Amino acid sequence: MAQFTLPKNSTIDKAAGKTFKSPGAKKPRSFKIYRYDPDTGANPRVDTYEVDMAACGPMVLDALIKIKNEVDPTLTFRRSCREGICGSCAMNIDGTNTLACIKGCDEVSGDVAIYPLPHMPVIKDLVPDMTHFYAQLASIEPWLKTDTPAPTRERLQSEDDRAKIDGLYECILCACCSTSCPSYWWNSDRYLGPAILLQAYRWLIDSRDEATGERLDALEDPFKLYRCHTIMNCTKTCPKGLNPAKAIAETKKMMVERTV
Ligand code: SF4
Ligand code: SF4
Ligand code: FES
Repeated sequence: MAQFTLPKNSTIDKAAGKTFKSPGAKKPRSFKIYRYDPDTGANPRVDTYEVDMAACGPMVLDALIKIKNEVDPTLTFRRSCREGICGSCAMNIDGTNTLACIKGCDEVSGDVAIYPLPHMPVIKDLVPDMTHFYAQLASIEPWLKTDTPAPTRERLQSEDDRAKIDGLYECILCACCSTSCPSYWWNSDRYLGPAILLQAYRWLIDSRDEATGERLDALEDPFKLYRCHTIMNCTKTCPKGLNPAKAIAETKKMMVERTV
């Protein structure tokens, strides 16, 4: 099971977990879900919800929505697009960070354990506080920077140059990778983590961007970039099949190449 950050001064209260049965269910399945409500002052607990899969959609998000609608409206989680595009429903399912909307219940054997993303402060239940993550994203200035005057139409790019941002532009900033990275767990105050570094590389490699040197200067720091130790958890967990570890390695290569 992956680790996650408990709210301060708390442990999981095993005795407090409630069980919600589904009487008459044709195809019962148990979901064990992390619960934490700061307003109660109580320690976190894990509640068990029995869901009738004969009357539920196939994805973990379908089960969460069914529980919220029909059993326990206090269960709190983020979701929006329901098709792996918005990144809102990122959480830890069966020990792996992924998107609840594209994770099939059938992909998990036995009870389905659901926790918030690891090592993030928890606002409530499955909702992590992303404030620091978004501040780190803003710090790499994720937009096209140019000095040359804007052309009358768009800034053009060759097909080959355009292809260089394939595997990067698809990132939905779900944070599954960063919150699976041990270096990010221990140093997220200063290490940018794989998601933000993949975003940084997306702009470094864009042929239309004219701030490459400035961007590399900003990453030249013992912590921001170099805390990646190529452990590869990030690439293994990315639900979009992207390779943040490769983007980080390419960025390190750019750093070296500009000094020779
Ligand atoms: S690289 Fe993958 S896991 Fe990381 S934020 Fe982007 S989409 Fe999510
Ligand atoms: S490769 Fe780097 S960013 Fe990815 S999990 Fe490992 S240390 Fe973290
Ligand atoms: S709800 Fe948008 S990615 Fe899951």
